[in-house]
Amino acid sequence: MELIKSLEWRYASKKMNGQKVPQQKIDNILTAIQLTPSSMGLQPYTVLVINDPDLKKRIQPVAYNQSQIVDSSHLLVFAAWADITPGQVEEYIQHTAEARKTPVEGLNDFKNSLLGIILKNDTEQNYQWAARQTYIAFGTAIAAAAEERVDATPMEGFDAAALDKLLGLNEKGLRSVTLLPLGYRDTENDWLANLPKVRRQKEKLFIVQ
Ligand SMILES: Cc1cc2nc3c(=O)[nH]c(=O)nc-3n(C[C@H](O)[C@H](O)[C@H](O)COP(=O)(O)O)c2cc1C
Repeated sequence: MELIKSLEWRYASKKMNGQKVPQQKIDNILTAIQLTPSSMGLQPYTVLVINDPDLKKRIQPVAYNQSQIVDSSHLLVFAAWADITPGQVEEYIQHTAEARKTPVEGLNDFKNSLLGIILKNDTEQNYQWAARQTYIAFGTAIAAAAEERVDATPMEGFDAAALDKLLGLNEKGLRSVTLLPLGYRDTENDWLANLPKVRRQKEKLFIVQ
């Protein structure tokens, strides 16, 4: 299976070499994110694609000065919706009706069940739900990057509130969840590049019944 080979190839690179990733590979990774499933299909997140070196330099201090932020080719910021509003549900329902060429009234039951969930939840619960969906897209992006033989370092090591402020995410109704620098490993200077993978044994990881 090709995916297994890719997952064996990848690791969370600690040092990148600054080389640019071809746009076609970036586009493929973004398409994989777009195709990721989400609960009820809402995709309650936005991914910022940052390749401006100055902006990456300003982000680095709020990410504990991790070098991959500036040595990456592109930095993806996975941001979840800060809340889920009836307006966003309405837009999604309209989009579904258009994509499936079906009358919007036929989607009323679906719309009401979605509205039932988001109105029952408070803002923080909606955000937490959105953040969980964001992680699914994040995982797809990590695997897609590996398929393209592009290095990617999944990151939670940053000050989310500070990053939100820096990128003006609150004004956009977003909150940052994870970062994914994309680039190429600097094998000679990366202490992790040649170390074996550490993974829980299958007997412990799975319960087969
Ligand atoms: C959600 C998440 C957050 C992580 N945060 C960081 C981080 O901030 N910095 C970093 O260097 N690695 C980070 N990692 C990398 C993990 O330490 C790494 O994926 C794990 O040890 C498995 O090793 P491997 O990815 O090299 O196979 C993170 C990984 C995940 C999935």
